[in-house]
Amino acid sequence: MQGVKGLHATYVENRRQFIETMQNFNILIAEDNDLSRENLADLLRSEGHTVRAVSDGKQAMDLVVEDQYDLVITDLRMPRVDGLELLRFMKDLDPDNLVIMITGYGTVDSAVDAMKLGAFDYITKPLRDDLVKLTVRRALSFARLKEENLVLKDSLIEKYDFGKLIGYSNCMKKVFENIEKVSTSDSTVIIYGESGTGKELVARAIHFNSDRRNHHLVPVNCGAIPEELLESELFGHEKGAFTGAFRNRVGRFELAQGGTIFLDEIGDMSPALQVKVLRVIQEKQFERIGGIKTIYADVRIIAATNQNLELAVAEKRFREDLFYRINVIPIHMPPLRDRGPDIAILANHFLRTFNKMKKKSLTGIHPDALNCLVHYGWPGNVRELQNLIEMFVVMKSEGEIGLDDLPPKILSQRRDSVSYRPVEVPPEGLNYNEMVSQYEKDLLLKALKHCGGVKNRAAKLLNLNRTTLVEKLKRFNLMEAEEADAG
Ligand SMILES: Nc1ncnc2c1ncn2[C@@H]1O[C@H](COP(=O)(O)OP(=O)(O)OP(=O)(O)O)[C@@H](O)[C@H]1O
Ligand SMILES: [Mg+2]
Repeated sequence: MQGVKGLHATYVENRRQFIETMQNFNILIAEDNDLSRENLADLLRSEGHTVRAVSDGKQAMDLVVEDQYDLVITDLRMPRVDGLELLRFMKDLDPDNLVIMITGYGTVDSAVDAMKLGAFDYITKPLRDDLVKLTVRRALSFARLKEENLVLKDSLIEKYDFGKLIGYSNCMKKVFENIEKVSTSDSTVIIYGESGTGKELVARAIHFNSDRRNHHLVPVNCGAIPEELLESELFGHEKGAFTGAFRNRVGRFELAQGGTIFLDEIGDMSPALQVKVLRVIQEKQFERIGGIKTIYADVRIIAATNQNLELAVAEKRFREDLFYRINVIPIHMPPLRDRGPDIAILANHFLRTFNKMKKKSLTGIHPDALNCLVHYGWPGNVRELQNLIEMFVVMKSEGEIGLDDLPPKILSQRRDSVSYRPVEVPPEGLNYNEMVSQYEKDLLLKALKHCGGVKNRAAKLLNLNRTTLVEKLKRFNLMEAEEADAG
């Protein structure tokens, strides 16, 4: 199980991919004049659309309840059911349905009626190809825009829910499950993982899925605050508390009131900071420097580290009492090299993101290049992959990311997969059927030999199902050969 929000993220991704491929539309034409119907259909087909054409409104009605059409183009005057009635029917079905009305000259009033009923536009007869194309393109980019807006709305939800935490591998599913479980509680969470594995994203996901989401998520980089500023950073100070304290200052814990404090790189905390944080956790209260008021800390704690804290405790670099306070619910972020199925998904996700950000249009990643990415070790994890894809998008002007683009350390990961072996066609020609059969027989016999004659295994090896393999063996009279071979 990936969790509701995880599925949502996947859904948004899929939808985005869907829109990017939205170019060929499904169009329905209703027009009683045979010649103009056929002309219109041909014109739109030549623009790459899928077209269905019928000769009256009744037939069109039957079709639209059965199938989804992106656009309906209808003549106004038709036998049985006319254009306006069809339009009304379409709008009742779904107000978002797109309809273009074709009107004869002298029927301006009907054109106005059509627009009032919600037609997207109208075109007057005699139809001019360029005008038709233009109107249809406008209608379709309108449709696409609408889809994009939906996605925009979705991605806002996504942004404030799960960040863009993307994952498909089994270990990431486990992470999604854990996020979902801990989000509903107030328990302290510690996220372990190598650098760049997405610890911060997970912290965000937990916060924005908890009841504290309307308060702040306040990060503290525990290794980066200078010793002398530490106390003031965390707890704030009153004006005049020390030289240089010109005004009151709210500290990080106070800022996180009602929300979450994210203690990042907690393994790098100085001994002095460890004492102070331990005290807040234990007593759930603190004072500003120079202040007299005790502030109750309603703050959830999420910590993260790329260190082995138990080892740090054993080596006396990290306080044992603090460790037990922090190590309540651990979440382990797996390194990217253990998340095989995620690599391609993340790479394509980053490609789309950077394409958009940098207004480029690289078309994708060649399978051979992807193969190298999947086998590379990714010491810098997701961050390293993200940086690499950004580099491609900046450096390349167009086309597909291929083997030539890869840096040598990744290129050296190339594993040749078994692929089609080319054959030559001699100038004197050959017997096509015989050659193909020979190739097939060869593959079948080699696979059987490799598997000691066990058909199940041979079928698996060739990516065939067993019945297909057996049929082929029979067809080539190889059943006995195989049995003899095995026996
Ligand atoms: N599962 C993921 N899906 C999408 N983007 C991810 C994922 N994991 C990480 N990233 C991206 O990779 C980068 C590194 O992630 P993040 O900062 O969360 O890692 P980290 O574990 O906190 O690293 P560090 O230990 O170096 O602080 C970020 O830009 C983040 O958006
Ligand atoms: Mg981090």
